[in-house]
Amino acid sequence: MNSGNAAPYDKPVTLSQLRRMKTEGEAIACLTAYDYAFSTVLDRAGVDLILVGDSLGMVVQGRETTLPVTVDEMIYHTRCVAAGRRRALLMADLPFMSYAAEADALVNAGRLVKEGGAHMIKLEGADELAGTVAALSATGIPVCAHIGLQPQMVHKMGGYRVQGKDTAAADRILQAAQGLQEAGADALLVECVPASLGGALTSRLEIPVIGIGAGPSCDGQILVLQDMLGMMPGRMPRFCKDFMAGSGSVQGAVEAYVGAVKRGQFPAEEHCY
Ligand code: KIV
Repeated sequence: MNSGNAAPYDKPVTLSQLRRMKTEGEAIACLTAYDYAFSTVLDRAGVDLILVGDSLGMVVQGRETTLPVTVDEMIYHTRCVAAGRRRALLMADLPFMSYAAEADALVNAGRLVKEGGAHMIKLEGADELAGTVAALSATGIPVCAHIGLQPQMVHKMGGYRVQGKDTAAADRILQAAQGLQEAGADALLVECVPASLGGALTSRLEIPVIGIGAGPSCDGQILVLQDMLGMMPGRMPRFCKDFMAGSGSVQGAVEAYVGAVKRGQFPAEEHCY
């Protein structure tokens, strides 16, 4: 489905379909959502993967960072989104400090799947997460590892900065990604890295690589819904585009995004590092 038009009766997207899309070069269109109404809009517009991101702390709760979000809040919003999607694969974030210990990761990921209805969970981190990824994978919970800019590390990283800019830093990210794939990660989300690094990750890994601010070569693209609808006050991040401008409706804006991703028109050069 390359047009980005509504496709409510298509078969549900599975992990094997994401892998097939990578192999066949069909871009994976992803967006965040946090409630039932937006979930139905995204699903109808042909979004392949919906993420219930801990970004809800900022765009739904109005907090300054994602750090205060709790597991119970993630479960609540995941359940709301699960009620609206029929086709899109549903991924949910493990929030800050809910997976620092492996035993907590298993319990909390299990809750997101059992109580929230998530199909895959996402956690932020690099090599240090390999054991946790392997343990989750062994229980049958699909895992997406989030590397590059990790918003849960905002204080440690000293702000929201582009990662992997020099060769040594880029190599560390490449090695970490390889290790996470070997540990059993089913997908990788890479945030705010040079487009060349996004491309290198995508060509070296067998698992699908979803980028946000990681260039056009990634297997898929994701944005925060409220950002791409131009709803957030202040300066729009470089990697984002306001798809509401020129679209008559939210549904139209999301369809325009899906179409632009599928046709390889988003991200353009001005959205890349
Ligand atoms: O929480 C979130 O929305 C994310 C974005 C980077 C997509 O992880």
